[in-house]
Formats: sequence, C-alpha cells, structure tokens
Amino acid sequence: MDFTAKMLRDDALKGKNIVVTGGGSGLGKSMTKYFLELGANVAITSRDLEKLKTTASELEAETGGKCLAVACDVRHYDQVEAMLQSVLAEFGSVDVLLNNAAGNFISPTERLSANAFDTIIDIVLKGSKNCTLAFGKHWIDSKQASSVILNIVTTYAWTGSAYVVPSATAKAGVLAMTRSLAVEWAKYGIRSNAIAPGPFPTKGAWDRLLPGDLKDQFDLAKKVPLKRVGDHQELANLAAYMVSDFSAYLNGEVITLDGGEWLKGAGQFNLLEAIPEEMWDMLEAMIKAKKNS
Ligand code: COA
Repeated sequence: MDFTAKMLRDDALKGKNIVVTGGGSGLGKSMTKYFLELGANVAITSRDLEKLKTTASELEAETGGKCLAVACDVRHYDQVEAMLQSVLAEFGSVDVLLNNAAGNFISPTERLSANAFDTIIDIVLKGSKNCTLAFGKHWIDSKQASSVILNIVTTYAWTGSAYVVPSATAKAGVLAMTRSLAVEWAKYGIRSNAIAPGPFPTKGAWDRLLPGDLKDQFDLAKKVPLKRVGDHQELANLAAYMVSDFSAYLNGEVITLDGGEWLKGAGQFNLLEAIPEEMWDMLEAMIKAKKNS
C-alpha cells in the first residue's frame, strides 16, 4: 500500500475558503498544497510576508489553485482581525480556520526567562485563541451555516512532556478550547476538532527540537511502533478529510496520527519489546513453573 497517495477525490474541497496560520512552510505548507489540489482557495499567514509570497506563488504554479499571502502575527488580536478582513475582501467568505502556527524549542524549564515561556504561550495558546475568537465572532454574526476550526496539537497535550513545558502547557489549553467550543458553538454550525501529529520531520521543528547531532542520537522513528516517521501527505490527507464536508459528524475530537508513538511510551510493559523471540519459551516455562511452587 502506498501511504503517500492522495486520499480524497479531486473536487473534495471545491468552493471552500480556508485560512492556514503558519502556512508558509513545514506541515502548514504541505496541508495548504493538498487543500489547493482539492479545489479550495487558501490564505496562508505568518509574520514573514516575503516567505509567504514565495510559497503562495510556488503553490499556485504547482496546483493551479488560488493561494493568498497575508502577513499576520497571531499574537496580536488587531492583526488577526485585519487578516480576517483581508481574506474576506479577497475570497468573500471563509469556511475553515486551521490553527497551525506554533513556536517551540527544547530547554530545561528553569533555564527559561519569563519572556521565553510567554513567547511560546503567546504564539500557541493566545494565537489560537485570537484566531478562534475573531473567526468565531464573524461566523456567528454573519449567521454562516457551517464552518470548521481545526487545531494542530500534539500527543503531549494530554501526557505533558519534559523539556518543552511551555509548548505542552499551551497545547493542553488549545485542546481544552477545542473540546469546549465543540459543544458551545455547535449550535452555530461551527465544528471544532484537532489533530495530534507524532513525528513528521520538518526543517523548522527539527532544527529547534533536535538541533545538531541530536537528530542522529535520538532517532524518533525508533520510538514509533511502526518504526518510521510520518509522511506529510498522511497528515494532509487527514486534515483535508477533517475540514471537508465528509467529516460533518466529527466534532470535539482529537485524532492522533503518530504510528502508536505515545502509547508505546505509556504502556507499563511495552519495554518487553526488547526481549528476543527465542527467550519467550524460557520465560513461559519459568512463569508456569511458579504455578506449582
Ligand atoms: N532557549 C532558551 N530561551 C530561548 C530560546 C532557547 N533555545 N530561544 C529563544 N529563547 C528566548 C529568548 O531569549 C527570548 O527571551 P528573553 O527576551 O528573556 O531573552 C524569548 O525566548 C523570545 O525569543 P525571540 O527570539 O525574541 O522570540 P521570537 O518571537 O522572535 O521567536 C521563537 C519565537 C523563539 C519561538 C522562534 O523559535 C520562532 O519564531 N519559532 C517559530 C517557528 C517554530 O518554532 N516552529 C517549530 C514549531 S514545532
């Protein structure tokens, strides 16, 4: 089976107007590309307008779709409101908000300045809140029949994780917001869901999370029961489904796409995987012998 194949039919997102925060690079760019291929108009946002414009032209040339570059620092509510107005001016309406913009780096927590901690909270939690609030108010005021919020979280949103504490704290908040609004805003036709991706290599994240030769020392594929990292198209397939009308009954859900990575860390006896096959006969005999002693 080819897990890098494209999943949905060609026109699955035709007529949809989508905003992808942090869409200029990495996973945001990969999801944007697939949304364009499926017929959506996509606005990508980040702080770096030049990079966004380059990405937008590249993706338009590759897909034939319409990709709009809008500068926006999601930490500032006034910039988010202005971004929404630019998107509405260009597309006429907006159907989907994909809160993908994030910031993260590894550090022992006690080494962080208060500002360093705030920087991550501001990008991840406050940024997702700013976009969610601005788009939600717009959808409710304009009585739009159906719209979708899709948040990118992480499996450590519920387990926590050492050395990325600001990110874990912020993503836990985003997950709580996802589930809360799934109930509160369903009456306005707004669905809220999340994806928790496992290791999907991108330059931006890998340089911050596994700098230097840490990449070789901590091969994340080895932590995954399926023994590989994710392919960007696998995430794009899931995201496209979750923003499409095919998932109209999916609301308040977080879907983990990590090859089983977090569960491998969680199960108390999962480390027994290290036991070679030939030892199990001996172990079984030892256990059974105990029955008669
Ligand atoms: N260790 C400790 N502190 C760090 C740090 C590190 N590796 N990197 C940044 N900081 C601190 C800075 O020193 C500063 O604190 P200070 O003012 O007390 O000195 C604070 O964090 C803000 O850093 P700054 O570079 O001014 O913020 P920024 O807004 O320009 O950058 C980041 C934000 C740090 C998150 C940056 O990595 C970024 O822009 N990332 C976006 C993309 C990304 O992270 N992608 C990966 C997602 S998984």
